Amino acid sequence: MAFELSSWLPGMQARVEALLGSRMATLAQRAPSALAEAMQYSLLDGGKRLRPVLTLTFADALGGGRRMADDAACAVECIHTYSLIHDDLPAMDDDDLRRGRPTNHKVYGEAMAILAGDALLTDAFAMLALGTSEDQAVRGAMVAELALAAGAGGMVGGQVLDIADDRPAAQEYLMRLHRLKTGALIKASCRLGVLAARGSPEALEAAERYGEALGLAFQIADDVLDVTATPEQLGKPANADAAAGRFTFPAVVGLDASKRLAHELVARAKDAVRVVEPTPGPLAALADYSVERTT
Ligand code: IPE
Ligand code: IPE
Ligand code: MG
Ligand code: MG
Ligand code: MG
Repeated sequence: MAFELSSWLPGMQARVEALLGSRMATLAQRAPSALAEAMQYSLLDGGKRLRPVLTLTFADALGGGRRMADDAACAVECIHTYSLIHDDLPAMDDDDLRRGRPTNHKVYGEAMAILAGDALLTDAFAMLALGTSEDQAVRGAMVAELALAAGAGGMVGGQVLDIADDRPAAQEYLMRLHRLKTGALIKASCRLGVLAARGSPEALEAAERYGEALGLAFQIADDVLDVTATPEQLGKPANADAAAGRFTFPAVVGLDASKRLAHELVARAKDAVRVVEPTPGPLAALADYSVERTT
């Protein structure tokens, strides 16, 4: 029987919610309560959890490293959440709505939103680094993986390319920007699952190629959805990119070409992941989901 994503994904998302809930409870014990509340508001408000689900699914497919995969999944979602809080700030995209609710700075003010993002970013690395003595080498590699994906040569660098005044309206520039701002963290989510499970170099290479293609496809789909979906589906404003003169795939190459490219990338991701998942299962289905989603 073909794999059914719709009956599998909610269980995985629930697993992520439970992990994040317990990590947040630990953080809340040592953080000032106002800060913990602002962090929790954005961390535990039910996003799709694609990145941590990818981490857990790669580790599950390879059969191991459950505790390290759990830590990596939480760390990745903390970094993603911080990136969204900062992305929505007035100095950046200046958005008022996220996941169907007011953005973090609308509720807690800009200063607290910046600090909640800072704390999620920093504590993510503590979550990943702290473990038993025998897994320190793997944890060191995972910390480096996540830092490189989130930093200047990854997500933050991509956000800078996104706001540059002199960006050329060229597909090549857009590919680089999307690879960095969104692709890098998605690719790292996949590779972290393999690292946690102490997978083979072949499995790591498969995660690399799958994550690279899926990450780019995911941001193209995000740009397409801004044009095609309703604000109710998105939980964030629709047509916001064009209204703000943002630099998106549909704006540069057109809507049809954007959809075609996203589907080509999904096919490439599914091809690459056969090494880890010989019979199409959750990883193949997550690749389809990344562009077929409506939220
Ligand atoms: C939104 O990411 C920002 C992008 C990088 C495209 P998601 O679409 O994964 O957001 P949530 O976490 O599900 O809300
Ligand atoms: C955000 O891209 C990428 C991040 C690194 C946060 P967008 O600005 O397109 O994300 P949305 O549309 O606000 O979710
Ligand atoms: Mg943005
Ligand atoms: Mg934005
Ligand atoms: Mg967007």
